[in-house]
Amino acid sequence: MKRIIIDTDPGIDDAAALTIALNNQELKVEMLTTVAGNVNLDYTTENAKKILDFFDKATPLARGNALPLLQEYEDASQFHGETGMNGYDFPESSRQLLPEHAVVEMKNKILAAEEKITLVTIGPLTNAALLLTMYPKVKEKIEEIVIMGGSTVAGNTNSSAEFNIKVDPHAAQMVINSGLPITIFGLRVTSKAVLHKKDIESIKNLGRTGEMLHSLFTHYRGGDLETVGLMMHDICTICYLLESDIFKFQECFLEVAVEGPAAGTTVADLAGRYTEAKNVKLAVDIDQKRFRDWVLKEIAKLK
Ligand code: RIB
Ligand code: CA
Repeated sequence: MKRIIIDTDPGIDDAAALTIALNNQELKVEMLTTVAGNVNLDYTTENAKKILDFFDKATPLARGNALPLLQEYEDASQFHGETGMNGYDFPESSRQLLPEHAVVEMKNKILAAEEKITLVTIGPLTNAALLLTMYPKVKEKIEEIVIMGGSTVAGNTNSSAEFNIKVDPHAAQMVINSGLPITIFGLRVTSKAVLHKKDIESIKNLGRTGEMLHSLFTHYRGGDLETVGLMMHDICTICYLLESDIFKFQECFLEVAVEGPAAGTTVADLAGRYTEAKNVKLAVDIDQKRFRDWVLKEIAKLK
């Protein structure tokens, strides 16, 4: 049983990742924490409540940072709809949040845990950076940080920068240089982690969970249903925790640009020309068919 905390900005691909993580018996989701990203913090927090309500989970939920550390906040509502989870009519939630800011709640949970915890970040890294800076003692109790973010190919916010890093590049640089084991999934891999039209259609008939995800996916603009398919960026982090050999990795030195037009761009020194140091395990390839089959199998379990 791997104990994890997921920091998230739901977000339709976040919702799919949370669906699998919350219902897989090999994972213990100790807490969900929300951050501003795809949409503002009010929406991401309400969306996290709705996902937890949908699966009737008692998982603690804490509200995190509403703004990046320094960068001016920009959302991605054009990909996820105004609410961040357009497409399915979730009931309003009356779920209570944990009382403190997500960073304080994460610190308390991690320091009190008997075993190390894996931190999974599938949104901007603002909360993670604050956690490691304000409470460095948590580092002794963190197994690994698994990040969806960055790109060593084209970007999805401009020619080179991926959204989660672009929103808060300073936070990303702080986390990547924390000295902790970092496994990072950028667009080189996550843009190939796609579900095709026939996969999305097949999900429709997989019970109430399939119906919910199908409704969300029909409103998701991360990719193109008729051509390349829909990109399940965030699911890659959860799939890695459960079926790591679906991916290939290379250890390397990764740097985040934090100012100017390149802010949010991630540069991987794959040939070791800049330095011999290595600060991340970078995902460099994916078995696309195994990934697709695995996602459909995980959703089908929830019929
Ligand atoms: O660039 C893709 C990432 O940005 C995903 O985490 C998606 O949910 C958005 O947060
Ligand atoms: Ca996300």
